[in-house]
Amino acid sequence: MSNNNSHEKVEKNVGLMAVLIAVAVSFGGLAEIVPLMYQAEAIEPLEGVKPYPALELAGRDIYVREGCYNCHSQMVRTLRFESERYGHYSLAGESVYDRPFQWGSKRTGPDLARVGGRYPDDWHRVHMNNPRDVVPESNMPGFPWLEKNQLDGQSVARRMRALQTLGDPYSDAEIEQAPAEIQGKSELDAVVAYLQSLGKHAPKGG
Ligand code: HEC
Repeated sequence: MSNNNSHEKVEKNVGLMAVLIAVAVSFGGLAEIVPLMYQAEAIEPLEGVKPYPALELAGRDIYVREGCYNCHSQMVRTLRFESERYGHYSLAGESVYDRPFQWGSKRTGPDLARVGGRYPDDWHRVHMNNPRDVVPESNMPGFPWLEKNQLDGQSVARRMRALQTLGDPYSDAEIEQAPAEIQGKSELDAVVAYLQSLGKHAPKGG
């Protein structure tokens, strides 16, 4: 009887009901969110994950500039058919140095989070110039100018410096060597180096 009464009290008092709903909903939220803040898998870099070396960083910036993310995600979801197709599902600790991250969800083309090592460099060079030379039915646009554009080492060094001020652990020596490392390389060299680095630190297997 007393049980029924207290129910009635809640149901007839909108203010009280609103407060109790808020409490109930926050419990659900907290139960989902709080554990994530303590899971090493979600908050720490995976072993071996380091800020991108100069050439790969340059490639990543070109990837963003060219809008590759409009057709490619870089996040393998925790679903069996995804890991069977691409490899181990993505972990947050793989992309701690990705600013901005490239997870995405738009997949006109395949996910690229595990593409590193799947093809030889030469395949990528031909494919980036004109995808139909290697995949006849492809509707990916060609990016033939990448081969012709030279990289600017000073600009890459400045971007590394900016990331260092944001807390990425680049050493001064790495930054100073960047222009020499990049000397004579094209934008295509950079994009291929970047693509080949994707998934390097992923746990093995599905
Ligand atoms: C308009 C959509 C579109 C854009 C923009 C695009 N791609 Fe693609 N991409 C595709 C499609 C579709 C495929 C699958 C057919 C193929 O292999 O060409 C593909 C395939 C690929 C593959 C092979 C993946 C695999 O596992 O076989 C790579 C690597 C790739 N794209 C890189 C890039 C890069 C780098 C850029 C930006 C410079 C880019 N793509 C921009 C649509 C796109």
